[in-house]
Amino acid sequence: MGRQEPVSGGEADLRRLCAKDLSHHKIPLFRFWFCGLLMLCLLVFVASLAFSDSVLSWSEKLFFHRRFYWFFNQSHHNNAPAYRVHPKHKVILSTIINNTESPAVPGGLQYHQAYPRNYQFVMDNSDVCKKNPPFLVLMVPVAPKNIAARDAIRQTWGKYGVIQGEVVRTLFMLGLDGGVDVEKLKQEDQQHHDLIQSNFMDTYLNLTIKTMVIMDWLATRCPTAAYAMKVDSDMFLNIDNLVMMLQKPGTPKLNYLTGMLMWNRPVIRSKNSKWYVSEDLYPDPKYPTYTLGMGYIFSNDLPIKFVEVSKSIKPFNIEDAYIGMCMKKLGLSPTSPPNPSQFKAYNSKYDRCEFSKIITYILGSSEQLKNYWADHKKPGPHC
Ligand SMILES: *[C@@H]1O[C@H](CO)[C@@H](O)[C@H](O)[C@H]1NC(C)=O
Ligand SMILES: *[C@@H]1O[C@H](CO)[C@@H](O)[C@H](O)[C@H]1NC(C)=O
Ligand SMILES: *[C@@H]1O[C@H](CO)[C@@H](O)[C@H](O)[C@H]1NC(C)=O
Repeated sequence: MGRQEPVSGGEADLRRLCAKDLSHHKIPLFRFWFCGLLMLCLLVFVASLAFSDSVLSWSEKLFFHRRFYWFFNQSHHNNAPAYRVHPKHKVILSTIINNTESPAVPGGLQYHQAYPRNYQFVMDNSDVCKKNPPFLVLMVPVAPKNIAARDAIRQTWGKYGVIQGEVVRTLFMLGLDGGVDVEKLKQEDQQHHDLIQSNFMDTYLNLTIKTMVIMDWLATRCPTAAYAMKVDSDMFLNIDNLVMMLQKPGTPKLNYLTGMLMWNRPVIRSKNSKWYVSEDLYPDPKYPTYTLGMGYIFSNDLPIKFVEVSKSIKPFNIEDAYIGMCMKKLGLSPTSPPNPSQFKAYNSKYDRCEFSKIITYILGSSEQLKNYWADHKKPGPHC
């Protein structure tokens, strides 16, 4: 939407200018034609924007820009191309097209890619839940090389072993990345005992695998936990508010999935889109109700059910919608949180009062997380 406003603003100015000039009796004919031509050019330009196969479909633009997408300035990041979406959604377009359009062997590799049985844990910290069964496990998918994000979380919402009297654990889920020093990762794990790594390639398109491996780990290594949350590494998480929400007497203990609910989201069929999913991978035009991937919470009876039911659901690269599919296939649906306004997506500025009331916010950097957290934990009134 951002691109349109200057255009229509300019158009309005031009119309005013031309209207004023036209009202003047002695206007030369060429001026009339000049203004007309300019108007025509603008119209053609606007129309071409509207009908071009732009990166995002119009519904996507309306939806995402209004709520949580931002013009991420990527130019200072390595030599990656510029993206105009939140960094967590960035992906090189041709990768999606190359992968989803390559002829998949029916029932072959692609079909089983998301099924965690095909992957083995390299590190699994299998005793984490044994001694002290957690009330809540926070599972954070993160790229192996992103030590900064892990350290920021370890210094902020991930540092507490007990919250509101409940045992809480924070663990990081990694795939493989050939460019990362294995020994360094092992050292990091020896220091913090919080890394879980599985032997799939850690890429954007493999996020569904990552999520299903998280489910596999919870089902097999941590079945005693009461609740778990999949939470992205770029989130502000008000962990106290989350635990208090889960402690409420009415909170379901089984078949419970909550977060920011997405209803009737259309499947993106524009091949240039970052969220493109082919009809072959997902035939319905809309996704079932799902919880936005930035952070969703579930009762810990669900992971084993997800792992089982995923055997019969074709994987596709939108991990949160895939969990929605698993829920649907199980005959379940996500539950609205007691206070839906606590689940927020992107916010550009910190507000001490606001951040004391919410549960999630998407942040722009690990530095922001550390700064906001430091202020959040400062004594004194929040509002
Ligand atoms: C974009 O990145 C450049 C280079 O790091 C920086 O100078 C500029 O301030 C950034 N702009 C915004 C809006 O963040
Ligand atoms: C996509 O496929 C084309 C043709 O095979 C290739 O040139 C291009 O590098 C591929 N892109 C990616 C990101 O793999
Ligand atoms: C996902 O991981 C598998 C297993 O490591 C790998 O074969 C595949 O290429 C990865 N897919 C993408 C799109 O990165």
